[in-house]
Amino acid sequence: MIRFDFTGTDPFVDKRQWDGVVRRARAAHQAVLSGTGAGSEWLGWRRILDQPNDALLEDIATLGEEIAARADVLLCVGIGGSFLGSEAIIQALSPYFRSPSAPQDDGSKPLQVLFAGHHLSSAYLTDLLAHLEGKSVYVNVISKSGTTLEPAVAFRIIRSWMESRFEDCDRRIIATTDEAKGALRKLAQEKGYRTYTISDDVGGRFSVLTPVGLLPIAAAGFDIRSLFYGAVAMMAELQEEEGNPAIEYAVRRYALHEKGYTTEIMSVFEPRLAGVGAWWQQLFGESEGKEGKGLFPAVCTFSTDLHSLGQYIQAGRRNLIETFLVAEKDRATVLVPPDSGNLDGLNYLTGVPLQNINKAAYEGTSKAHLQGGVPIQHLTISMVNEENLGRLVYFFEHAVSIGGYLLGVNPFDQPGVEAYKMEMFNLLGKP
Ligand code: PA5
Repeated sequence: MIRFDFTGTDPFVDKRQWDGVVRRARAAHQAVLSGTGAGSEWLGWRRILDQPNDALLEDIATLGEEIAARADVLLCVGIGGSFLGSEAIIQALSPYFRSPSAPQDDGSKPLQVLFAGHHLSSAYLTDLLAHLEGKSVYVNVISKSGTTLEPAVAFRIIRSWMESRFEDCDRRIIATTDEAKGALRKLAQEKGYRTYTISDDVGGRFSVLTPVGLLPIAAAGFDIRSLFYGAVAMMAELQEEEGNPAIEYAVRRYALHEKGYTTEIMSVFEPRLAGVGAWWQQLFGESEGKEGKGLFPAVCTFSTDLHSLGQYIQAGRRNLIETFLVAEKDRATVLVPPDSGNLDGLNYLTGVPLQNINKAAYEGTSKAHLQGGVPIQHLTISMVNEENLGRLVYFFEHAVSIGGYLLGVNPFDQPGVEAYKMEMFNLLGKP
């Protein structure tokens, strides 16, 4: 379950424009439902939920089990939408620390899911390959276009390493890519890799609930059916206009954007939710940041960042909106122990769960930031599990589509991403 509270933006939005913005947001919502808005050929992220392919989910779960049983490491090679979603879900659901040698509760050894091809650091790749030495490795190379430079170069290096280490190398590599187009599809056919297809109508940043995100998540041991059907449930809940939190979120963000606010911070109080924030950054940044418009999305992990960015948020330039993403229940409880000496002066906290202290930090921060002139909103998930994360994924995907239409941009393309590639290819002398 997710609870939404947008009242912390009330003092900041211009109520005179309210009805007009709500009317336009409802029309945008209808355009998403009916597939009549700009970029409607990219609405596959809704289609897959509307017509669930249970056989595909089953197939992915089975391959995930095979990988978990046979590999020490699954290396996912991809960038942008081809890695942020799986990284977000795996990070949110995994323990913070897990020794690769320590068996899990059921006696099996935990699979480590690692990522590559999401930047161009040679030190990272060198250290990664050294870390993989002597381990049983599977690779999932993921690229919708099959031509993105970062994962393509990383994969060439990793493939050569795999070929020199494993006789059954081609069985250990799974490619997730376009059905027909791109160099990766050709290579996969040539080598006989197992493959999954990314449909033409699903954009990279909307692809976490396709094989792009689902295979790594399944291999990591998580329930992809709950994740997927959480999103299905949310889609059903967001049909109506009245009381629709996706419309409400989009309306408030847009109204504040029109008043000159430039930046939306997503603040989390649980570091394992920072990956969800990174996924959200791409979803909103690439969908809305066009034609000189859009809020700049930025994640803050609190209370860590309260000791670095807190000053600015509290009292810097008043151009920030803050959206808190918090979980009601934590999976672990630590109590502050008694200390007869009380030399640290903390006895007033003896017996208090750390979770309550974190909650006080959250509530105190939101109060302080509101008083400091920051419009705030709260998204509270009852607990961090597959179903709620699935719900959250759909909520944001729907909301950003409405948000893009309100801004008058196509939320499903990303022409600006090409600019740096052109310059880089010129420097590299690409033929
Ligand atoms: O949202 C998008 O489409 C992009 O950000 C892509 O996810 C990213 O550029 C990676 O592209 P590809 O999967 O084609 O390698």
